[in-house]
Formats: sequence, C-alpha cells, structure tokens
Amino acid sequence: MNGLKNKFLLLTCISIFFICCAPAIIKPTIEDVNFAKQKWNDVSLAQLNNGYSLYVAKCGGCHFLHKINELNENRWLEILPIMSKKAKLTDEQNDLVMKYIITKCKSANSSAKK
Ligand code: HEC
Repeated sequence: MNGLKNKFLLLTCISIFFICCAPAIIKPTIEDVNFAKQKWNDVSLAQLNNGYSLYVAKCGGCHFLHKINELNENRWLEILPIMSKKAKLTDEQNDLVMKYIITKCKSANSSAKK
C-alpha cells in the first residue's frame, strides 16, 4: 500500500505546484473576452487564445516568460513592438499578442488586487 500512498503524495505535490504557480501565465477566459470587448468590440475568445498561444510559443525563447502583471499597460505597449520584432511576429500576430496581454493586464489588475 506504500506505493499508492507515495503516488498520492506526488499527485498532491504536483497539484499544489500547479495551483500556486500556473496562474502566472493564464489562459484567457470568457470573462476576459467580456472585459476585452469594452476596448475592441469584435474580439473573440479564439483571438485571445491565439494571442496566448503565440505569447507562450514565441516569447519565452530568449528569456523566461514574463508575467503579465510584472509590467503595467503602458510599459507593455512600449516594449511589445520591440519584442515583436525580436520574435519576428507578423503585424497580425503582434495584434493578437497585444490584445491578450492588455486584456490580462487589465483584468488581473481589476480583479485580484494584491
Ligand atoms: C530574440 C530574443 C527575444 C525574443 C524572441 C523576445 N525577447 Fe523580450 N527581451 C529580450 C531582451 C534581450 C530583453 C532585455 C533588454 C531590454 O529590456 O530591452 C527583453 C526584455 C523583455 C521584457 C522586460 C522589459 C522590462 O521593461 O522589464 C519583456 C516584458 C519582454 N522582453 C517581453 C517579450 C515578449 C512579449 C516577447 C514576444 C513577443 C519577447 N519578449 C520576445 C529578448 C527577446
């Protein structure tokens, strides 16, 4: 029975890890879409998800993935065009990443105040 107990412990640790650390880079939700629509009224969950995937895929190559709440909106808007060039994003991809980041930036700031 010890093996089972160990597996259970391992699973618990893994779950705790994900609960604590994963929300740093979070997938967009329906709430985010509603939030984003205040700014871009044709934005969709698919678009935000694309932005999220691009961000994870393209922006962690040279440095660790920066948490969205590390920078404020203005700083993101400043740095993103520079980083998009570094990551060789197309204009369209840059737009998707920008929408994802700005949405998360704002919804993170408005809901969970630390
Ligand atoms: C080719 C390498 C490269 C890629 C790809 C890249 N970065 Fe960077 N990034 C850097 C370097 C180098 C710095 C530090 C120099 C600086 O701050 O200008 C940096 C710094 C940053 C910072 C910190 C800025 C600050 O004010 O502290 C953020 C945020 C960032 N990158 C986001 C991104 C995002 C978003 C993407 C994807 C679109 C991306 N990076 C892709 C090289 C890269």
